[in-house]
Amino acid sequence: MGYMEEAKVYFITGVTSGIGREFAVQLIKAGNLVYGIGRRKSSLESLKKELEEAGDRFLFSVCDVRESEKVQESIKICLKKFNKIDVLIANAGYSSRASFENFSFHEYKEQINVNTLAPIDILYRCYDELVKSKGQFVTISSVLAYGALDTYSAYSMSKVALSYFCEGVRNDLKKVGIDMTVIVPGYVNSDIRLRDNLGNFTSKLDRKNISLLEMDTNKAVSKMIRGIQKRKKLLRVGLSTYFLIALISSFSSLINKVLFRRT
Ligand SMILES: NC(=O)c1ccc[n+]([C@@H]2O[C@H](COP(=O)([O-])OP(=O)(O)OC[C@H]3O[C@@H](n4cnc5c(N)ncnc54)[C@H](OP(=O)(O)O)[C@@H]3O)[C@@H](O)[C@H]2O)c1
Repeated sequence: MGYMEEAKVYFITGVTSGIGREFAVQLIKAGNLVYGIGRRKSSLESLKKELEEAGDRFLFSVCDVRESEKVQESIKICLKKFNKIDVLIANAGYSSRASFENFSFHEYKEQINVNTLAPIDILYRCYDELVKSKGQFVTISSVLAYGALDTYSAYSMSKVALSYFCEGVRNDLKKVGIDMTVIVPGYVNSDIRLRDNLGNFTSKLDRKNISLLEMDTNKAVSKMIRGIQKRKKLLRVGLSTYFLIALISSFSSLINKVLFRRT
């Protein structure tokens, strides 16, 4: 049997930077097949170059997760090349940040479109394949789904909705053989703080130095992969994540007072 039949096929959204990119690198190095999507063509091409030894085991499409037809087309190409999908990692997402008066309704909708609705859309589109492969659906939630902090209303809302969707359909998926893993990272080094309120990459924003809590991408993602392979239901990555969840879920008012000077 050739490697194409033995290897697992991972379909990953948002492989142009951060966690998604690291997923692609580590999974390819471990001998798997990866189909990645993202919007930035140059980043996809540089990832392809970095993984050139893998040849056609890494394939990609330039694709916005909000464009359902393009997502469908990417899935079609993935199936044509790799014949199956074992694991769908709905990773693409971004974190908007602004007070209510500085945020627009359009920005709320786009945050929900990318972080909440796109993972559901792609799950529908990969559903039959995941049933066939007895596969896995993986999503990335956040510590900000555990409590509401000032300026993060849209992001928290999008991740709470995603987490509740996942828990609400977990048993339905299980019945047809699909396992679900919800990952809750703490702060992982990525481009997440280099995006505007519509999720577009911008080098103009300053990266805040939160190095005390920030996890190295490589280490964080290798823990995530181990958890996915063990088909864990909920994966909190790193001790700082437990600390942040406890802090945010119990002391959000205090944090808002201290950090955002709420009266
Ligand atoms: N890093 C953390 O501390 C942290 C903590 C909790 C949760 N998360 C979650 O982890 C996931 C990955 O984030 P990250 O930290 O790795 O940030 P990142 O470095 O900014 O990566 C985000 C990825 O999502 C893609 N993306 C964003 N909008 C997209 C769209 N409309 N269509 C297609 N792809 C899109 C980006 O690609 P393009 O810009 O090329 O489209 C990029 O590849 C997100 O869901 C985030 O909410 C991260």
